[in-house]
Amino acid sequence: QAVQWFPGHMAKTRRKITEDLKLVELIAELVDARIPQSSSNPVLRNIIKSKPKIVLLNKSDMADPVQTNRWISRYREEGTVAIALDSKTGKGMSAFFQAAREVLKEQIAAWERKGMRGRPIRIMVLGIPNVGKSSFINRMLAGSGAGKAEVRDKPGVTRENRWFTVGKGFELLDTPGVLWPKFEDPIVGEHLAFTGAVRDEILDMEGLACRLLELLSTLYPQAIPYRYKVDLMQESNLPGYEILERIGRKRGMLISGGEVDTERAAITVLDEYRSGKLGRMTLEQAISCDKS
Ligand code: G4P
Repeated sequence: QAVQWFPGHMAKTRRKITEDLKLVELIAELVDARIPQSSSNPVLRNIIKSKPKIVLLNKSDMADPVQTNRWISRYREEGTVAIALDSKTGKGMSAFFQAAREVLKEQIAAWERKGMRGRPIRIMVLGIPNVGKSSFINRMLAGSGAGKAEVRDKPGVTRENRWFTVGKGFELLDTPGVLWPKFEDPIVGEHLAFTGAVRDEILDMEGLACRLLELLSTLYPQAIPYRYKVDLMQESNLPGYEILERIGRKRGMLISGGEVDTERAAITVLDEYRSGKLGRMTLEQAISCDKS
């Protein structure tokens, strides 16, 4: 997904979200479970104000399950319901629907009192590019039993708005636009790049791989030695470039003169992290009072 973020787009998206907010009862905000902070939107909270929200820690199949539970506790401490999700398999979908009903139980009871039993809960899905919105939406549509997406217009709604019936008493509003991350923060940009949320053509892959290796060596010291059969255990704080060279040598990635093709090794390391081959690892770890 080659997406560029421009200030003009941001203002427009912000307006569109604010407008569309009136049409829904619930926001489902997708974040990447490996980088919940960097993949969240910095101003969404201000935009959605008191509208109920559920955070979906998507790609949880690639994140450290212990950390994901800590993030869930951390969100809970802030009064937000968060759910671990794997949009590829649908794991977490039923927990999401259940949580949605729970979060909106007062609203549902009020509808019932007014004779609107069974009124569908209307949801808006938000998230930065590549976080898995389409996968999640397709999952919801697949689970609706409707087969193909049912698209229909609603009276009084601008014509570009479309609603999808997602079954089980839910309706989905098409995404009002692309949310942006805190990209002015270099750490955020780097974490997004590690997970593949930024176009690789604009990145220094070798430098990126080196920094990823340093971060992983700190957070998950066994992971690199285990995957690449390189011995790093005796030496802490090894520079990323050194680790990269050892990996390249071990994998036989050599160029003429016997030098290691570090560019190729970098691409391998990044690919393997992004596809989960290095193990389930969370790059941004939660600090919570709850010691779960
Ligand atoms: P977007 O609409 O928010 O931009 O994201 P999209 O659904 O297109 O998902 C972006 C990539 O993330 C896709 O991979 C998708 O398969 C993958 N993805 C989404 N949710 C999950 C998840 O819960 N777990 C895992 N492991 N991956 C997920 P891709 O490489 O672009 O395509 P492909 O691998 O599906 O071919």
